[in-house]
Amino acid sequence: MIRNQQITNSLLDLIGETPLVQLHRITEELPGRYYAKIEAFNPGQSVKDRIALYIIENAEKEGILKAGNTIIETTSGNTGFSLAMIAMLKGYTCKLAISDKSSKDKVDALRAMGAEVYVCAANVAANHSKSYYEVAKRIHRETPNSVYINQYFNELNIEAHYATTGPEIWQQTEGKITHLVAASGTGGTISGVGKYLKSDANTNQTTNSSQSISAFTSDGFTTGTGNPANESASTTLGFMSWNWKANGQGSSNTAGSINTTYTSVNSTADFSISTYTGTGSTATVGHGLSGTPDVVLVKSTNDNTDWRMYHKDIPSANTRAIKLNDVDYWNTDNSWWNNTSPTSTLVTLGSSSTVNQSGNLYVMYCWKSVNGFSKYGSFIGNGNANGSFTYLGFKPKLLIVKNQGASASWVMVDDKRLGYNVKNRELFANNTNVEETNDQIDLLSNGFKMRANSTSINTAGRSYLYLAWGQTLVGSNNKPCTAR
Ligand SMILES: Cc1ncc(COP(=O)(O)O)c(C=O)c1O
Repeated sequence: MIRNQQITNSLLDLIGETPLVQLHRITEELPGRYYAKIEAFNPGQSVKDRIALYIIENAEKEGILKAGNTIIETTSGNTGFSLAMIAMLKGYTCKLAISDKSSKDKVDALRAMGAEVYVCAANVAANHSKSYYEVAKRIHRETPNSVYINQYFNELNIEAHYATTGPEIWQQTEGKITHLVAASGTGGTISGVGKYLKSDANTNQTTNSSQSISAFTSDGFTTGTGNPANESASTTLGFMSWNWKANGQGSSNTAGSINTTYTSVNSTADFSISTYTGTGSTATVGHGLSGTPDVVLVKSTNDNTDWRMYHKDIPSANTRAIKLNDVDYWNTDNSWWNNTSPTSTLVTLGSSSTVNQSGNLYVMYCWKSVNGFSKYGSFIGNGNANGSFTYLGFKPKLLIVKNQGASASWVMVDDKRLGYNVKNRELFANNTNVEETNDQIDLLSNGFKMRANSTSINTAGRSYLYLAWGQTLVGSNNKPCTAR
């Protein structure tokens, strides 16, 4: 027995990270290998602990759930039990509407866990005032300072599984899972896990160039024949590429404790690409830019680990990183940048497997703002269709925006698709979705402006990170290009 040998601070720390156990007897006559993810190992004894914790902590971060407030939900038992447990641990009141189809044991367990339970008629339509949905809604209306979890219609239910169950299964199977079978009640598990497993979020690099780019040339690249870079199945399919040009193969940068394999630097655009092998202990790597990078992005090329981004405008940036392949807001961990900010020559790495595991191969991209061409910064949203304007000093060709305080997609807009304002359709860097059709960002001659109240680009009071690149540098003097 090797699990949990240390003291655990709270039951909340035991939610998720459930075991995957190989099935033998029940599948012995079937081809393939089968595993069961034992969600009963969660402290609340079901998968529902995950969504309960995720939704509650999201509400806390959004500032809509505070000490002493009330949590309300419609439940057939398991979600309610998880909520009641977490409410008790965190000091909230929990009120649950349950149908009289659920067993008395369930109701007793909820009450024993401290919840106020309202048993409602099962034999009425969902929109009847006595149904457990309508009763929960009414209690929510009548209870000041209450939050309705609303698992059946809450996107965070799906997101919880995208953020936890999906990555766990991927890591436990070392990315080899081919099929997922799941029970479905609200559909949260199957949608969230399925979405994660489809997005290829953090896989290592493909060696199948026919599926992507088969060659780089001095002025472009050659696509392979297959999806995703060149699918011809439908005439309506279009492809986007965004390219950062470094300076050929480059050479080893020996400024840090790790000598890079290659570092290729575009010193005019202040952009570099380096490759290196991890050591597993604190290290420094030379980046080759003309000064301190504003943004550093690292990805293992031979391991299924997340894309870690350092961005200078994340608070306490050298203790944090944000994942390019995920909707998460930043996480805190000293094992990425070892609590040390990049300098004019070096990036410091901790020992995390995402940036510096012994023997693993990594690619590192570094950017530093160039007056009139590129800028990496942050702005505060105003939650209004007449949104905040961010001055760049150039007309952006590509803009990437990420809500750094809440779960939201990485929004990308550029000037190459539908054209000009207001048709700047969003693509998301962290998933495989087609472009959005809601047009909500204006690209302007000297910056950008938000045109909607939306979590991913413009919630009032929220801080957003951005990365923006403009027109090609003008000569060597980096003059801002002018408006069209
Ligand atoms: C124990 C348990 N497992 C699985 C499910 C189904 O999961 P989902 O609601 O994510 O579809 C539920 C509830 O609906 C449940 O209570």
